[in-house]
This record gives sequence, structure tokens and C-alpha cells, in this order.
Amino acid sequence: QSIDSFAERLLGWYDRAARDLPWRHPPGSAATPDPYRVWMAEIMLQQTTVAAVAGYFTRFVQRWPTVADLAAADDADVMAAWAGLGYYARARNLLACARVVVAQHGGRFPDSEDALRALPGVGDYTAAAVAAIAFGRAAVVVDANIERVIARHRLIETPLPAAKREIRTALAPLVPQDRPGDFAQGLMDLGATICTPRAPACTRCPVSADCRARGRSDIDQLPVKPPK
Ligand code: ADE
Repeated sequence: QSIDSFAERLLGWYDRAARDLPWRHPPGSAATPDPYRVWMAEIMLQQTTVAAVAGYFTRFVQRWPTVADLAAADDADVMAAWAGLGYYARARNLLACARVVVAQHGGRFPDSEDALRALPGVGDYTAAAVAAIAFGRAAVVVDANIERVIARHRLIETPLPAAKREIRTALAPLVPQDRPGDFAQGLMDLGATICTPRAPACTRCPVSADCRARGRSDIDQLPVKPPK
């Protein structure tokens, strides 16, 4: 008896249940993601909820449809448009990054994780997310939602932050070469809607069959918080 791979089950569910979020639509009739929009969304989503970001994202890409438009913007206009999102260093880095992409990369985002990580404001998480979602690179994307899903599925009981290494090691071989961006976003959606911090909806989870934490009364303690 065999069951579908973790990625097949997750992607099948994502195809049915993906959240309809503005940055998941390429502009116009384009079939492939626009790296500029993917990058913008991932910067905005750091430390900020999907619900809070959606309106800002739509206004930004309407006003500055390309990275060249943003690079040419007045700093004060961008800072004013960012008002309310918080963590204003992100807005300053957003502009700095757009200008580097124009000045050093001819207005096109680089497509490797390493080159992305060299851009202002782009750290490990954002480099991996943009490489996977915009460029189809099989990067290992780990955010807090993904951490929770994998810590539970593999019953990783090591406290954070030490657990991060184990989570990454467990996740890496699960990443599918063909749809790494959908895989990452599927894990994010699973963590946000089903494998929630409290009272996960395991009966609706596409990967519950081999989840090692399923049925445990202490499932909502995973991942284990750092000791105080
Ligand atoms: N949180 C961070 N990046 C996200 C994405 N691409 N989709 C949904 N939630 C996210």
C-alpha cells in the first residue's frame, strides 16, 4: 500500500483550496509570476498579516507598476504610502532595493537565492521565497507557519530556535522540483488555515495520514517555544 508523496498531497489540496491573494495574480494576462510583485509582497508580509498587507500591496503596484517606477519614486511619496504598515526600515529598504535592481541588474530581479540575498532588505527567508515563487527554484522556504506544520508532521520536539535546523533538514527533501513556489505557499496556507497554532483542523488536513503529532493532546504546544 502506498500513499501519495507529501508534496503531491499538499499541492492537490493547494490547487483546490489556495487563498485568493492579490500577489498570486500575475499582472494582465501574464502566465508567470512577476518577481517585482512577489518581492513586494514578501517584504510587506514580514511581521505583518495577510489581511493588513492586501490593500497596501494593491495600492503600491497600481501606483508603481514596475521596479523602475518604484526606483524613480520620491522617497517621501513611498514613505507616505507605507504609513500604517509599520517597521519603516522595510520601506527604506524597499526603495534602496528597487534602485539597486535598476542600477546594477538592468531592472530585472536576479533569479538565484544568493544574488537575491545580496539585495537591500532581502534576508534568507525573502531570498528563498522569491527564488521559489517567482523563479521556480527549489529553495527551502521556512516561515513561522511552515515551521509549525513541519514540527508537527515530523514531531520535532526540540525547542525553538534550535528546532529550526531540524525543521529545515526535514523539509528540504520534501520540496518538489517542479512546483517549489506553490509548495511553499501551500505550506503557508495550510499553517494559516488548518494547522493553526490552537486547535488545528486535522480532519481537513491533506497530510494528516502520516502526521506524527496528529491525535496528541499537546499538539498545540508544537513547535516548542524557547525556554524562558
Ligand atoms: N506570508 C508570507 N508570504 C506569503 C505568501 N506568499 N502567501 C501567503 N502568506 C504569506
